[in-house]
Amino acid sequence: MAKEFSLTPKRVPRVDTPFRKIGTEIPVPQSLPILEKLYAYEPVAMRGQPPIVWDHAEGFQVYDAWGNQWIDWSSGVLITNAGHGRKEIIEAINRQASAKLLTTYCFPSEVRARLVERIAGLLPDPLKKVFLLTTGSETVECAIKLCRSHGLKAGGRSKHVIVSYDKAFHGRTLGSQQAGGIPVLKEWIVNIDPGFVQIPFPDGFRTPDTSFDLFERSLREARVEPQNVAGVILETYQGGSASFAPPAYMQALRQWCTGHKTLLVCDEVQAGFGRTGTMWGFEHYGIVPDLALFGKGISSSLPLAAVAGRADVMDLHPAGSMTSTHTGNPICCAAALASIELVVNENLAYNARQMGTILHEKLRALGKRFPQIGCVDGKGLVAGLACVIPGKKDPDGDLAWDVIERCLHKGLLMFSPVGLGGGTVKIAPPLVITEGAILDSVAVLEEAFTEAVRAKVAAA
Ligand SMILES: Cc1ncc(COP(=O)(O)O)c(C=O)c1O
Repeated sequence: MAKEFSLTPKRVPRVDTPFRKIGTEIPVPQSLPILEKLYAYEPVAMRGQPPIVWDHAEGFQVYDAWGNQWIDWSSGVLITNAGHGRKEIIEAINRQASAKLLTTYCFPSEVRARLVERIAGLLPDPLKKVFLLTTGSETVECAIKLCRSHGLKAGGRSKHVIVSYDKAFHGRTLGSQQAGGIPVLKEWIVNIDPGFVQIPFPDGFRTPDTSFDLFERSLREARVEPQNVAGVILETYQGGSASFAPPAYMQALRQWCTGHKTLLVCDEVQAGFGRTGTMWGFEHYGIVPDLALFGKGISSSLPLAAVAGRADVMDLHPAGSMTSTHTGNPICCAAALASIELVVNENLAYNARQMGTILHEKLRALGKRFPQIGCVDGKGLVAGLACVIPGKKDPDGDLAWDVIERCLHKGLLMFSPVGLGGGTVKIAPPLVITEGAILDSVAVLEEAFTEAVRAKVAAA
């Protein structure tokens, strides 16, 4: 049973620092009618995030309407790379809306042309064609379609297998969920396509073997012939743990895919646009995939996503056969262009690297102090703390939940735990966060961990 935060207001100590302010019970009693309305009219599946009602958000901070203020370690869900509520993005949205062009379907627009040119210009060869969509899941669906179409052409109907990774998350639509590696999320599919195969991700923690042998061995064990693999898709880092594969593994995978006429797909929906300290997450591996998928941080705001790829792959389908109603919506394009300029001009990938160095050093020190932290992973401004039963690798979802709730009460906002057994405390602030705010928020995390561990020991 998935967890939910209680809607009973709780008295929490007052917080009043330059970055954080908490002066009410949490949830705020006056916010309950809003929360109750959401509970009444939305499916249960929409619940599960901390019960605070966002009023506005700026930079790396989120505010409610009752004077509370949090440092944001969520970026929504890794959306606001350029920061919340950036003036430049708001102005671009307003300008485009005032130009009286709110939608175009696939009819050409100048702003869409500018955006695809800008994205292609930033990406390395051969990722020079760009298809705009609305959500990350759609980019994954499109990648599956392109991999299978390419496979059909390169090897016939038997070349249709999509290899992906255990514990991966690629979205909640039928294809993207099948490419995911979290079995409980796929039970509803019932007749899962046997052409989707997951293998262990070489994270070095839960999968200690990080050699490329593991890839080939896993395919043999799954009785997959290499020539039948149409595509290999992976999150550039695994969202549930923030773990990366070793560069040597990825370089061998790149060679393997080229050798077998298999498309390599990096799902950069989380990793793109500076998050990991480089513009693209795949730069950490010294490789370029055949397809790269973007969403979330592409616009820091409105819904927009993109598939970028090799021209010969992107052009596999004829005119009019890869479209979507809101493809390249002009306002979303304007927002994305403004966000990308901020990420580039303010060198936010560099800031992510600098701030990430400070963050990760502090998190590693915390990991040494607490045997309940099994692993600290991530790069740049994404990190995952794996909460475990001490001495084991079993996830401790209750501890992760308690830590996040305590942080919420202290003015540090995260989304609910993610990853295996809900055991990962995930950290992903907007890339504009400052050193002062990083140090302040890490101190809050440390306090919350200390209290949560003490409470757990006392209850045992
Ligand atoms: C790596 C990755 N791919 C795809 C998706 C799906 O994106 P969306 O929720 O926009 O459909 C997500 C969402 O969390 C993601 O993290």
